[in-house]
Amino acid sequence: MARLICGIRLLNGLSVAAAYPKPTRLRSQTDPKPEMPHSAIDLDRAAERVPDFWSPRIVAELNDYQVKVARLKGEFVWHKHDETDELFLCLSGELVIQFRDGDVTLTSGQMYIVRKGVEHRPVAAEECRVLLIEPRGVVNTGNAGGDMTAPEDVWL
Ligand code: NI
Repeated sequence: MARLICGIRLLNGLSVAAAYPKPTRLRSQTDPKPEMPHSAIDLDRAAERVPDFWSPRIVAELNDYQVKVARLKGEFVWHKHDETDELFLCLSGELVIQFRDGDVTLTSGQMYIVRKGVEHRPVAAEECRVLLIEPRGVVNTGNAGGDMTAPEDVWL
């Protein structure tokens, strides 16, 4: 039903794109949260619009947490987040989250929570789209840094 409603809205020219701030708009942590329009957010469709791989974009906030979508392909870097757990929900494709002592494979509709301080490396042989939930200010490469570090706090 949500998909149908979203489809109708798209036919009318109203999409998630229209309902949310322009791409790459930066908000300060003290800005008020954007209004929640009365329309469903189609997460996979939103993720499709993310311009770059490994560069999460915010689609919503709840309290101090951010809901992000990302497109992943290839191998990320080994890293950990010393301050927070990290939720991965696979929207489409297949995501392998590698750990030093084993892997977890997610397909559409499956989720996993990486505990804080645990080293991990996301890998996607083919394009995979994911939803992430994490506190504001989390850097995608955690403690590792490097070329794959994406700007944080960027809305879709
Ligand atoms: Ni991570």
